[in-house]
Amino acid sequence: MNDWLKTVYSETSSLELNKHYKKWSNRYDQDMQEWGYAYPVQLKKILKENLRIKKNIKILDAGCGTGYVAEALVELKFKNIVGIDFSQAMLEIAKQKKIYSKLICQSLNEKIKLRSNQFELVICTGVLTSGHVGPDSIKELIRVVKPCGYFICSIAESIFKKNGFKKEIENLSELAKMEFVSEQFIALPKNKNSAKSRMYILQKLI
Ligand SMILES: C[S@@+](CC[C@H](N)C(=O)[O-])C[C@H]1O[C@@H](n2cnc3c(N)ncnc32)[C@H](O)[C@@H]1O
Repeated sequence: MNDWLKTVYSETSSLELNKHYKKWSNRYDQDMQEWGYAYPVQLKKILKENLRIKKNIKILDAGCGTGYVAEALVELKFKNIVGIDFSQAMLEIAKQKKIYSKLICQSLNEKIKLRSNQFELVICTGVLTSGHVGPDSIKELIRVVKPCGYFICSIAESIFKKNGFKKEIENLSELAKMEFVSEQFIALPKNKNSAKSRMYILQKLI
């Protein structure tokens, strides 16, 4: 059996990465479930315990994939969710779930085709990582967050400093402040190639 996790996180070409996700798309949810994907649980915990936000807010799921994590938002009764991903195949699976108000196919390494200051919450799980989406995208994702709204992302411990995420977040200073950083956890406890990760919660200031 192909360990898609290893394949996608070691890919350096965006074109090849897109092909991998096309092949993985039909099995993605099943694999994530079998590997005990921790982000849905972590996200629910944060939304229940750390942030006070209404259910009717507008949410952007950046790098939404098949919508596996957005399903956790739906369980918490959030309804107004827009998804972006560069893989048409992953978006096709997400579309079938009928949980998104809109799905957009585009790369997050480019300027996002959405107007500024419109989402109370932007989530980005499993996406800010090697070969996928780089630290430069953080400012662009925060651009679409409403002032006082939140940006929640996961970043693996091994690349937080090395790939420039730490520096990028520190340099946001006037744009957003770090509200909360989760404990370290294993993203996929039942996959031996899984990274140790943390969730970062930033609040937009202006
Ligand atoms: C590990 S999956 C995570 C999906 C979802 N957020 C989740 O937690 O289940 C990574 C996702 O990032 C998407 N992705 C990778 N590079 C991207 C890029 N440059 N722009 C937009 N999406 C990208 C992939 O298509 C895939 O759906």
